[in-house]
Amino acid sequence: MDQKKLSLLHSLKSIWFPSRSKMGWPRRNQMCVWIIVTSFLLFLCVTLTFNGHVWKMLDVSMHLDEYDDASEGYGLRKLLEDPDARIERLRLGGLEKRLPQCIIIGVRKCGTRALLEFLDLHPNIKIADMEMHYFNKDENYENGYEWYRKYMPFSQTSDITIEKTPRYFISESAPERIFKFNSSIKLIVIFRHPTTRVISDYTQVYENKLERNKTFEPFEDIVINKRTGRVNTGYKAVRISMYYYHLTQWLLYFRRHQIHIVNGDNLIVNPLEEIKRVETFLGLEHLVTDKNVYFNETRGFYCMNSGNNQHCLGAQKGRKHPDIDPLVIRKLNNFYRPYNRKLFSMIGRKFDWDD
Ligand SMILES: *[C@@H]1O[C@H](CO)[C@@H](O)[C@H](O)[C@H]1NC(C)=O
Ligand SMILES: *[C@@H]1O[C@H](CO)[C@@H](O)[C@H](O)[C@H]1NC(C)=O
Ligand SMILES: *[C@@H]1O[C@H](CO)[C@@H](O)[C@H](O)[C@H]1NC(C)=O
Repeated sequence: MDQKKLSLLHSLKSIWFPSRSKMGWPRRNQMCVWIIVTSFLLFLCVTLTFNGHVWKMLDVSMHLDEYDDASEGYGLRKLLEDPDARIERLRLGGLEKRLPQCIIIGVRKCGTRALLEFLDLHPNIKIADMEMHYFNKDENYENGYEWYRKYMPFSQTSDITIEKTPRYFISESAPERIFKFNSSIKLIVIFRHPTTRVISDYTQVYENKLERNKTFEPFEDIVINKRTGRVNTGYKAVRISMYYYHLTQWLLYFRRHQIHIVNGDNLIVNPLEEIKRVETFLGLEHLVTDKNVYFNETRGFYCMNSGNNQHCLGAQKGRKHPDIDPLVIRKLNNFYRPYNRKLFSMIGRKFDWDD
């Protein structure tokens, strides 16, 4: 080592390890340098170890007021008490509750819950767990968009928030209100064979009555008007399956390309195909794969697999339908045929509903 380097090393050494014999205890200014440099290194270590969480935490505490009265209880007190909530708090960096950019508007008993849960497997889709009934019920609508937003899940800017309320499809007020809310919003409708849907609708109501020991009329007696022998359009379940009529109300406001139609009968047997189409409609990457769904032999339908968590829809989903008089089924199919034809020409797509 040459002389220059040696003397530099010497002066550095005298800052870090001042020799006691010459000067006694280090001088005050040397001590200061030592403390400042050491604290800086320590701070650097901590920051790197927690990998950005420190910054996210600081960011979140600045926004805590906003979370205080949120419906899911992200209140300050909860954050301090509940360890899960504290973890949630660490994850909150960049997360916000956003109004939905896409709404599943119906149709009841066509698999809306299944569709929503399949879509939830996509990392960029965030779903609202509750059916909000925001645009159809006056008492909810009057609360304003801010109220609605508070029930939405946390999301990143790159995510798409989806809400579903099957009741919107048959609501008189929902189309206009949703158009006012966001005229370029994306809408999803899921259809099943109209007769299958009526039977499924009846089955749900009938099982509820069965549980409460209430009397109920047989399907055939409700669906067919005894006096005329024709389909009873006074029965609401029959009217809901007249898809053409309801969809017309939506196309008064929205352009056809804003409404994506899911084939509910196909969703049951081939969920990935329908999900891929929704991903395309939403402009998302195809990230839901055959690793995310599996067929459960016992249940007889597809279930979801989100990495560490396998789950099927609740036991009340995928019920067995009661045996129905084939003559009544034929009557229903004949009744729906003209509505189906009009629907197909309106949407430019045909479903295999002929019998
Ligand atoms: C309206 O919906 C479209 C389509 O999802 C979305 O791109 C847009 O950001 C939404 N507008 C507002 C104001 O949320
Ligand atoms: C319905 O009836 C069954 C048998 O008659 C009885 O065991 C059950 O408690 C009843 N359920 C209700 C909700 O009343
Ligand atoms: C399939 O469904 C049955 C009934 O719900 C359940 O007990 C079983 O654990 C499920 N199997 C798998 C592999 O998820």
